[in-house]
Amino acid sequence: MKFFLDTASISEIEEAVSWGVVSGVTTNPTLYAREGGKLAEFHAHIKRICDIVDGPVSAETVTLTRDEIVAEGETLAALDPHVVVKVPTMPEGLAATKALSERGIAVNMTLCFTVPQAILAARSGARYISPFVGRFDDISEDGLEQLGNTIAAIGNYEFGHPVEVIAASIRHPQHVVASALLGADICTVPFKVLGQCVKHPLTDRGLESFLADWEKVRNS
Ligand code: E4P
Repeated sequence: MKFFLDTASISEIEEAVSWGVVSGVTTNPTLYAREGGKLAEFHAHIKRICDIVDGPVSAETVTLTRDEIVAEGETLAALDPHVVVKVPTMPEGLAATKALSERGIAVNMTLCFTVPQAILAARSGARYISPFVGRFDDISEDGLEQLGNTIAAIGNYEFGHPVEVIAASIRHPQHVVASALLGADICTVPFKVLGQCVKHPLTDRGLESFLADWEKVRNS
C-alpha cells in the first residue's frame, strides 16, 4: 500500500516527504481553505505542492457542469504533469471524467461512497477512485465494510486502464491497518495520522532503555 498525504499544508508535505514515505498528495477545497488559501494563489499553491512531491497531486474541481469541470480540469492539469484532477462522483462528473481521461488527463473520482459509484467511476475512465471511510463512520455506518466491498468489486473487473483505489477520509491508525489488510492500493492520510502510525509506546520505551544502557557503556 502506498501512502498519500491528505493535506494542503506545505510544511506538512515537506516534513512527510522528508521521511521518504509519501507517494502523492490529495487536496480538497476544505483543506485549502484551512490553510487560509486565497483564490488568486490556488494554482500557484498546487504547483508548489507538485514541486515538492514526486507523485500524483490531486487538485479538486469546484464546478457542477461537465463543460465547466473539463475546462477547470484542463487548466489544473496544465499546471504540472503530476496534477490529477479530482472530480466529484455525480452524472456531470462522470461525463467530465470521460472527456478528461480521453484527453490523457488522470482523474481521481472523489466523494465515492458505494460500490456502484466506484464501478461507474472506473467505467467512465477514472484513474483513481476515493471511497470515503470516516464520513460513513460519522453517520454510524461501517466505512471499512464499504471500503472492503469497493476494493473487492473493482478487483473483479478489467476497465481497460489502470484503476487504483484510494482509501480516503481516514481518521486514525486503525483505518490505516484495515485499509492495508483490505488491499487498498493507496491510503491518503492526514499528517496527524501519519505521525500516529509511526509512534508506539514500546518503541519509545525500548529506545529509552537502549540509550540508558549506552550511557553505562559510554561511562565505563
Ligand atoms: C480525500 O481525498 C479527501 O480529501 C479526504 O480524505 C476527506 O476526508 P474527511 O472526510 O476527513 O474530510
